[in-house]
Amino acid sequence: MKPSVVLYKSLPDDLRQRLDEHFTVTEINGLTAENLEKHAEAFASAEGILGSGGKVDSEFLAKAPKLRVASTVSVGYDNFDVDALNQRGVLLMHTPTVLTETVADTMMALVLSSARRVVEVAERVKAGEWQSNIGPDWFGIDVHHKKLGILGMGRIGLALAQRAHLGFSMPILYNARKHHDAAEQRFDAQYCDLDTLLKESDFLCISLPLTEQTHHLIGREQLAKMKPSAVLINAGRGPVVDEQALIEALKDGIIHAAGLDVFEQEPLPADSPLLSLPNVVALPHIGSATHETRYGMAKDAVDNLIAALTGKVEKNCVNPQLLK
Ligand code: GLV
Repeated sequence: MKPSVVLYKSLPDDLRQRLDEHFTVTEINGLTAENLEKHAEAFASAEGILGSGGKVDSEFLAKAPKLRVASTVSVGYDNFDVDALNQRGVLLMHTPTVLTETVADTMMALVLSSARRVVEVAERVKAGEWQSNIGPDWFGIDVHHKKLGILGMGRIGLALAQRAHLGFSMPILYNARKHHDAAEQRFDAQYCDLDTLLKESDFLCISLPLTEQTHHLIGREQLAKMKPSAVLINAGRGPVVDEQALIEALKDGIIHAAGLDVFEQEPLPADSPLLSLPNVVALPHIGSATHETRYGMAKDAVDNLIAALTGKVEKNCVNPQLLK
């Protein structure tokens, strides 16, 4: 008999077919409380789950006693209680490589659009405001040759350093848990402590996962250390930045602008003050959202689930110690 799995995100047809070849699939529309109740039987027999969004914690695990593998269509796994998974011996699979270049492109887009006010001035053109030669009230600030600070030098940080250093002649500073030899050798990235990164960066680009240690890592005190001309870019996870403190810093001129792809609450509430600040570019968490990359992530997630449920894991496992 094929193992049962619950699919909680729709897949392209060919990938869904591949999943059906290996498993008996129950597809649901998200890991909501309502769906957990409605499809209790499917969860009770599921050996695998595949999707993204929705909490997978001990409460969830109690409803899925046969679960052996959780496969997320994302690199980030802050929705998962990894300790609870470890205790239960459930493998967690993710998609850490396929989206790297696309997310770095999104970060560079945020750097450029925040600095050059691309969104704001394009809207002014559409509103018919371009009536004569533009003056300084349309000007932005330069990107090339400015200092780009990277907080969190993982795969995405490295791909951003490549773009910024080789493409835009930007000196790279970074702070991370440890030195990154490739970043230092290939892009002349300089390691520094967080205070120095805050003080010296013209663009502070945050590319950190959300953990207990990174929650509100950037708050009022840290923002106050940044240059008044600095731009903050966040395309990791919203809660790494204290959003209320960021709003105040943007209103009070403590920093110049922000380019944000992630927020403390997503979707961003329509009454968020961020939406009425002209010096904010707000994107709807599009980091990896291209047709090619989202397909690649879904494909990796399907392959990951098949590998893990057939005992052939070679990569993309968050808790490989369970394999031993
Ligand atoms: C997107 O945010 C991801 O974690 O893949």
